[in-house]
Amino acid sequence: MIVLGIESSCDETGVALVKTAEGSPGTAPTWPVLLAQALHSQIEMHQAYGGVVPELASRDHIRRVIPLTESVLNQAGVQAAEIDVVAFTRGPGLAGALLVGAGVAAGLAAAWRKPLLGVHHLEGHLLSPFLSQDPPSFPFVALLVSGGHTQLMQVNAVGDYALLGETIDDAAGEAFDKSAKLLGLPYPGGPGLSRLAEQGDPRAFALPRPLLNSGNLDFSFAGLKTAVLTQVQRLGADLPARVADVAASTQAAIVEVLVKKSMRALAQTGLKRLVVAGGVGANSALRTQLHAQCQTLGVQVHYPELHLCTDNGAMIAMAAAMRIQAVPGLRMGRDGAFDVRPRWPMQELSSHH
Ligand code: KG4
Ligand code: ZN
Repeated sequence: MIVLGIESSCDETGVALVKTAEGSPGTAPTWPVLLAQALHSQIEMHQAYGGVVPELASRDHIRRVIPLTESVLNQAGVQAAEIDVVAFTRGPGLAGALLVGAGVAAGLAAAWRKPLLGVHHLEGHLLSPFLSQDPPSFPFVALLVSGGHTQLMQVNAVGDYALLGETIDDAAGEAFDKSAKLLGLPYPGGPGLSRLAEQGDPRAFALPRPLLNSGNLDFSFAGLKTAVLTQVQRLGADLPARVADVAASTQAAIVEVLVKKSMRALAQTGLKRLVVAGGVGANSALRTQLHAQCQTLGVQVHYPELHLCTDNGAMIAMAAAMRIQAVPGLRMGRDGAFDVRPRWPMQELSSHH
């Protein structure tokens, strides 16, 4: 079975094709494989505004989505008639941006007379490590760290997710982006702040580690950006000379909280596998520290391939294909109707819903 996936929830238009593998009974499950993918990032377009402009995002998705679809079909040498299911990101995300992917997916599905499947964006991130050379096996703890979400989940199987903890205010990616903006770095600040941090001293400034010892698995990052602002104001004209130290100290605060809470989630669940997904999962300080801690605990860590950490179509096609494989007789849309869920709690995905 071949699945086309379309991602358009924020500032990346992604399209991909995956093919489900034919597993033989009694053997370990064989995960779908990626046939082709194409991506257009709008980052440069939004940079002039210091953040994503929703209306510009929607219009750019309209411009890109069909050429990207043609490109993946050509790359894979697949004819439209060979596609079995058209999948798209149904939410969460920007309403207008989601509507573009949903509308195009519904149009293609109707024209090709194929079923239509809406995918949860975070389920895409969560299952993206199954596209890597070293896929995890169930169950595992997932640390989901994107621009809009920070969650720890227990993942027992496809569609069986239990929320262990989440942020009560800003997401980890947001903390990176907002702090970076205060340091004068372009949008999105995460990668830039992380590069700058390599030249700085992570112990130069004592920044808060919110909820580090709260005893639960929740996060809070809003106070951190206020502390960074205070530090920036205090430095005044000295900021340029110390900017790498502020960046390193900020990154250290975010990473320490993410690592500690992940270790606590592993201890609490007794699980020995950790999956890190979402854009912040590309952060090398986070990877290094998780790796070190997990090694001493005998925990295996899995990441999506670096280029699949941030938004892409492959993870949407993959999540759709894995869901189809896991749920025989899964209900899919057949009438060309579609809807989007700009706010869509992930808990609604678990089987009892
Ligand atoms: O998952 P993603 O592409 O989009 C959402 O679904 O939100 O995540 C984007 C976030 C942004 O906040 C970006 O700054 C952050 O991931 N990010 C990073 C790095 N690469 C991307 N943060 C820290 N270090 C990085 N290397
Ligand atoms: Zn994302």
